[in-house]
Order: sequence, then structure tokens, then C-alpha cells
Amino acid sequence: GKVGVLFGGRSAEREVSLMSGKGVLAALQARGIDAHAFDPAERSLAELAAERFDRVFIALHGSYGEDGTLQGALEQLGIPYTGPGVMASAIAMDKIMTKRICLSHGVPTPAFASLDVATTTPERLHEVAETFGFPLMLKAPHEGSTIGIARVESAAGLSEGFELCAQYDAVILAEQFVKGRELTVPVIGAGRAARALPIVEIRAPQGNYDYEHKYFSDDTEYLCPAPLDEALTKRIQALAVDAFNAIGCTGWARVDFMLRESDDEPFLLEINTSPGMTSHSLVPMSARVAGTAYEELCVEILRLATL
Ligand code: DAL
Ligand code: MG
Repeated sequence: GKVGVLFGGRSAEREVSLMSGKGVLAALQARGIDAHAFDPAERSLAELAAERFDRVFIALHGSYGEDGTLQGALEQLGIPYTGPGVMASAIAMDKIMTKRICLSHGVPTPAFASLDVATTTPERLHEVAETFGFPLMLKAPHEGSTIGIARVESAAGLSEGFELCAQYDAVILAEQFVKGRELTVPVIGAGRAARALPIVEIRAPQGNYDYEHKYFSDDTEYLCPAPLDEALTKRIQALAVDAFNAIGCTGWARVDFMLRESDDEPFLLEINTSPGMTSHSLVPMSARVAGTAYEELCVEILRLATL
């Protein structure tokens, strides 16, 4: 049938999505699939309906693509789509909601507070920083690719960090910094069939795995499978699947963790329900280690598309 690859979009991650989508489109076409590009930033939902796609591959990141709104429209139009449904997408797009739900399912996540931009006083911000210590992570809970994130090293940087995040969201996540190793785990499938792929460890220079390092620079080191003993690997993979199921994911997602240096305890940071598929991205890297090439990965994700 006719497949739409949705990419571009109007979130802050548009540029990343263009890279992901081009990769996916080329891969599906190389496999003989009748795949067509569709950019929801340039064309309307009426035009999407008129294309009569049999299914769509969502390669959009961030708002209006990864957050459940587009998923809702596709439900209305009756077009099966890749990745999690409306609820899981909406939850995962909010790092605070994700942490609350994962905690209630026994998946550990760093200590945190939710700060309303309109009512948070400088005194409250200092109080939170005192509770969690420095560095303190401040995050715009709806953004991705390290956009709207501040790592605050001391009290002097609090208001600047808070204001940076406040450009993106009305509620800010203040999160205790976990010193340790940065890990990510792709999960593919649904329900009992959901399975974790090999863990990727990210070693960025100065621990600074930001937007530039994610997509453009080549000085970040990736270790896959992450050098962890088998029991710990299994435990983190099981936590990734638990988190995936806790928020109701289907299809695929990528679950990010910090592994605390002092005691090797894993802490969930977030779940990405439309992970990057660029040449630098981590799900393709992990799949490759598991023996699944990029093209095959795209076909498998597409095959899991549902309504
Ligand atoms: N938000 C980016 C695309 C990722 O998680 O891969
Ligand atoms: Mg993210």
C-alpha cells in the first residue's frame, strides 16, 4: 500500500526531524515500499486525508508530531501510524508526567519538583536547589534534543537557567543531578512482545551530550552494547520495558537513563516516543548491534503500525 513518511513539522526539533525523515524515506523506498514524504508544517490535515495513505511512519519529533496531537488526528482519519498511541505519546512528551507514572510503577527516577513559572519565587527556586544540591537540572518538560535544558552549577545561575527553560514551557522540571553514566535503551514491540535492544552508553566530552553533540559533532563516544555486567544489563533492559509499558507505549520508543556512579543504580530520565533516526541516532546504532540494519529497522517499525 501507499505509505506516508511524516517529517519536518513545526517543533523546535524540526531540523532533526528532517534528517530522521529523509533517512526513513530512503530506507523504505530502497526496500521497494511506495513511500512518500509529507511535511505537516507545509500541508494541512485535509491534504493528509486526501493522500489516502494506507499507513504512515511518524518521523516527527516534539510538539505536533510526537506529543499525541497528530496521533489523535490520525485516529480520527483512520490511518494506522507507527509508534505509541495518543495517551502514551502525550505522557512521554511531558517529562514530569512520565516521572510520576514511572515512579508509581516502581521505575526509579531522579528526585524532582514541578515549578510553575507564573508563581515560582526566587526564594522557592533557591529552596529547591538547596534540597537537591548542585548541579541542578532545570528542564522545559515538553522539549527534546537538549533544547530548553539548563545545568545550573551554583545559586548564581538559578534565575538565568530558569528563564531559559521558561521560554519553552509554563511549568519547569527541577531535577536532582545524577552523576554517572548516560545510557539509552530502545524498546520495540507491544505489551508482552515488547523487547529491549542492546543498551547504548553515551560518553560525550565533559559529559556534555547536547544538541550539537547529538547531531553534528563526531567527538562523542558510543559504546554498544554498553560495558555493564550481564545482571545489570538485564535489569536496566527490564526497567526500560517496564517504563515503556507503564505509560502505555506500543510500537517503539527509546528510554533514557542515568546510571549512578556511586552505586550503579539506574534512574529513568525520560521516554522518547519518536526517537531520532538520523545517521547519528542511537536506536539505529543499537539495532545494528542486534543484527538489524537501518532499512530493516524502518520496515519493522512500519510493520508495527496500528490504529
Ligand atoms: N528527541 C530526539 C529526536 C530523540 O530522542 O532522539
Ligand atoms: Mg527526549
